[in-house]
Amino acid sequence: MGKMVTLTIDDQVVSVPQGTLIVDAAKKAGIDIPVFCYHPKMEPVGMCRMCLVEVGRPVIDRATGQPVLEADGSPKIQFGPKLETACTTPVSEGMVVRTQTQVVAEARRGIIEFLLTSHPLDCPICDKGGECPLQNLTMAYGPGESRFRYEDKMHLAKHLPLGELI
Ligand code: FES
Repeated sequence: MGKMVTLTIDDQVVSVPQGTLIVDAAKKAGIDIPVFCYHPKMEPVGMCRMCLVEVGRPVIDRATGQPVLEADGSPKIQFGPKLETACTTPVSEGMVVRTQTQVVAEARRGIIEFLLTSHPLDCPICDKGGECPLQNLTMAYGPGESRFRYEDKMHLAKHLPLGELI
């Protein structure tokens, strides 16, 4: 077996093989990170940003190459200024991942809202209605209301008359 890496995800200590992606390490710990564009059988593409999480790494003393310690003896963890995609970021030793913070929740709301701006929103008549990851994740993590003003929507005449029912 290859080298194992130990990290902490939402206060749970997890050990996974080196090279494992955060999203898969979290799954092993029973923590679900929402994804759209990630599938375990495909190369990660990191395009939808739904899996954003906070990632911290141990601070290493450049002179000694050893981790810098806090007053209580625990390793000092430095969190990055931006969220990272859990589906493209491999785990590293001593990493600390937070998936349930306010910042992460706001990012998820924003990403869902952004994705819905280019989606037809035809859930009531869509064949996938009820079995749709976008619908499910919108219910779970979305903003709950839209900033769009429906009365401003343009209603242009159809190019072809489709009848009264369509
Ligand atoms: S799941 Fe799409 S960017 Fe990670």
